Amino acid sequence: MVKKGIILAGGTATRLFPLTATTSKQLLPVYDRQMIFYPLNTLIKAGIRDILVIVSPEHSGQFLNLLGSIFKSYGVHLYFEVQKVPRGLAEAFILGENFIDNNSVALILGDNIFEDDFAKAVKSFKSGGQIFAKKVADPERLGVVKFDSQKRAVQIVEKPKEWISDYAVPGFYIYDKNVVAIAKKIKPSDRGEIEITAVNNEYLKNGKLKVGLIKGEWLDAGTFDSLLEAGYIVKTKKLYKNFHPLVDKAIADFNEELKGICKKKLF
Ligand code: TTP
Repeated sequence: MVKKGIILAGGTATRLFPLTATTSKQLLPVYDRQMIFYPLNTLIKAGIRDILVIVSPEHSGQFLNLLGSIFKSYGVHLYFEVQKVPRGLAEAFILGENFIDNNSVALILGDNIFEDDFAKAVKSFKSGGQIFAKKVADPERLGVVKFDSQKRAVQIVEKPKEWISDYAVPGFYIYDKNVVAIAKKIKPSDRGEIEITAVNNEYLKNGKLKVGLIKGEWLDAGTFDSLLEAGYIVKTKKLYKNFHPLVDKAIADFNEELKGICKKKLF
């Protein structure tokens, strides 16, 4: 059982310039709500109620305005940590060391939207690492997992230059408490990042990594096209109906509160 979750909502979002010159990628709208509500919903639906949101310094105030007290009546505890420089996905575990506090932890990328539900994986998790795979058309952009003939994962490569498999690793990962020590030992890659792929390979090397398959849509809203497509798919496939009632209620309350403030300002 995993009780703690981290959302990585920092980064520079260069592929979305100039949209992200004024706000964070994860605060941009995907149909009728900010992108960050999707990873929040995924964690909450999985049963996680202690959530650390990692943000960049320039957007920390905006995140606090939106999320600072939105779940206060709903038993969801949000914590915030600033990542001064985007040093890579695995830095989440170094920044989150005190939050993790010797527990297992789930990590979700702030720009990943999932139709699938991770409740079963989160509830049954015991130790090691658990990641997922999904067949995609463009694996070269992503972390890719190679399986042997018995469908066992044998290798994970970040953005492989040569084709190794069509199965990409989506931005939802579960690890035991050892992830903090593992992340601390990782040296930055050629692109200067502490890679999550290195964490996964460490668990794989020790025979402690499980790789499951995910179902349904997996959207990574990091480019103009994928951001537009995400909004379109959310609307047409009615993914906004997949929200946990708690999240819907918290957003509705927040909207009412905002309307009240606007009225007071007008009269
Ligand atoms: P990316 O999409 O790899 O990076 P980015 O968001 O900075 O965008 P771009 O490539 O266009 O410059 O990041 C995936 C997610 O992880 C996204 O939600 C941002 C987050 N992230 C961090 O919070 N810290 C980091 O150090 C990195 C690399 C990413």
